Amino acid sequence: MPETLEAETPTTADPAFREDVLNGLAQAQPAVPARWLYDRRGSELFDDITRLEEYYPTRTETAIMRDNAAAIAAAAGTGGALIEFGAGSATKTPLIIDALRPDHYVPIDISGDYLRASAAALQADHPDLAIDPVAADFTKPFDLPREIAGLDRIGFFPGSTIGNFVPRSATDLLRTFRDILRDGSRLLIGMDRIKDLDRLRAAYDDREGVTAAFNKNLLTRMKRELGAEVDEDAFVHEGRWNEMLGRIEMHLVAVRDTVITLDGHRFAFPEGATIHTENSHKYGPRGARCLLLAGGWTPTHEWTDANHDFAFILAEAQPNRFAP
Ligand code: AVJ
Repeated sequence: MPETLEAETPTTADPAFREDVLNGLAQAQPAVPARWLYDRRGSELFDDITRLEEYYPTRTETAIMRDNAAAIAAAAGTGGALIEFGAGSATKTPLIIDALRPDHYVPIDISGDYLRASAAALQADHPDLAIDPVAADFTKPFDLPREIAGLDRIGFFPGSTIGNFVPRSATDLLRTFRDILRDGSRLLIGMDRIKDLDRLRAAYDDREGVTAAFNKNLLTRMKRELGAEVDEDAFVHEGRWNEMLGRIEMHLVAVRDTVITLDGHRFAFPEGATIHTENSHKYGPRGARCLLLAGGWTPTHEWTDANHDFAFILAEAQPNRFAP
């Protein structure tokens, strides 16, 4: 289809997207940072993914939170300020708020628009809750709102989003959380477990092809926003287990020789070459705790489902002192 090769007039030109694609496609293993999967369409597709039969993480984590709400509240403490890294989900955020009954809720998200919309929806159902949204990139240090000065602080980072980061970056992120939340704080974090590989692969390559559409949306976005020339039909989705690194990798695999052109640069993809688009790291019980410990957090409690498919972990900020 010749039309797939025609450059479109770019609709948006986020310079960071262009730069990441130009740099990423030039690497020995071409790769584009996973954050670019989540435009409006990508976020809708991810939402569809969370409801797929094969995609167990969302419903498993939600069930863990629901089934253990009283125990989580007893261990984590109630009241204070709940700080969520991300704008929150319409299901999990009300669940944790109803369990912990915080006085203040502080969602942090890079997208100010999305943040305000979800805060408004939440406020309607929780009229007595003080909501103090912060539009910020939570991978970089920033200040918490003055309104929560002096309150106990508990961070919330569900969804196994930590799995998107390679361990080195995940450690940096956990340390940033610790710097933001400071001494005496706690963290509630969801982490997906290593499990039967067929189930893991199926969760990232569903029969309906929703994950494939989610992955391929990146190519559509490159065409629409950057004016790249891409033959979308020359790539297929692959969800690949990397045993050594303990992660599912999403790739776009060239099924025939093809070329992507952007700003006069030609990136050749011989048949079988791939663009690496996302990582989803999985952790065993010990691996999860090691990651937290390395990031400045001491795990204190852990809740899982009957199959041990997913872990919901409570940790406390390590004091800044030398161990014995
Ligand atoms: C949003 C990063 C938690 O890794 O499971 C789902 C993203 N990608 N299917 C995950 C995702 C493909 C998801 N996270």
